[in-house]
Amino acid sequence: MTAAAPGTAGKLAALYGLRPQPLYGPAGAVVYDALSRHDLSELSEVLRLALESAGPILELAAGSGRLTIPLAARGHEVVALDNSFALLDLLRSRDERIRVIEADMSRFAFDETFALIVLGTSSVCLLDRAQRATLFGLVVDHLRPDGVFYVSGMDIAATLTPRTRATERVAMVQDGATVLTLLQHFDGRRGVRTTSVLTETVDDHVTVGRELFTSEVQLLDSGELTAELALAGLTVVEQRRGKPGEQVPYQLVCRHA
Ligand SMILES: C[S@@+](CC[C@H](N)C(=O)[O-])C[C@H]1O[C@@H](n2cnc3c(N)ncnc32)[C@H](O)[C@@H]1O
Repeated sequence: MTAAAPGTAGKLAALYGLRPQPLYGPAGAVVYDALSRHDLSELSEVLRLALESAGPILELAAGSGRLTIPLAARGHEVVALDNSFALLDLLRSRDERIRVIEADMSRFAFDETFALIVLGTSSVCLLDRAQRATLFGLVVDHLRPDGVFYVSGMDIAATLTPRTRATERVAMVQDGATVLTLLQHFDGRRGVRTTSVLTETVDDHVTVGRELFTSEVQLLDSGELTAELALAGLTVVEQRRGKPGEQVPYQLVCRHA
């Protein structure tokens, strides 16, 4: 079930009579894919780690293969796991040789172990604390003794997450005849960020279709994540950060403690 969209997205839903749909669900998958397919963030880091590791790669929350497809194209053996059938279908349509597994990243089991496990695009924040603890346990179980776990997230400035009121940020992008309005809603009290995407299809200056998609993530800073990883038996051996700003992406490279 999709939660009601908060803030401005909720008002737009009421105004246009829209029912929010999950961003990674059957209808949202093409929208997420359109938004992400030209995003090159994290790719060079993931390709470098893949080059340095000898052995199969497991990509968790692989989606439509933004990172998976370039890995496979360079000859790496990669297994793509995601719980969205629709996104995995898009991945399959682009490279049918890639092994895809439809599963929850906090509930998977393989008979093999991996030289590199990748969990990019801040997807770790889709899980709550208990699910993350289970996931990190599974990573430890499936990572080779000299293996590497790559995980990324986002440090959010305290000014965006006051406990007294919600804050919002809005951006717009165009994909062909569709205008996408991205509404980010930060709820410091609940410790979550909801991303809503309003799509408006325009034909001859007239809007002919509107849909609304949402996805909620936990606010999880790099310090908290590092502590959770340590509890699971994973040590951060490299850390990178993006440019200073309200939302600073971070990448952690971990090994068995
Ligand atoms: C931000 S997207 C990242 C997708 C891809 N890594 C990329 O860079 O485009 C998050 C992905 O996590 C998947 N996802 C959400 N919850 C999940 C879960 N519990 N288990 C596995 N995948 C999940 C979604 O279907 C979606 O593909």
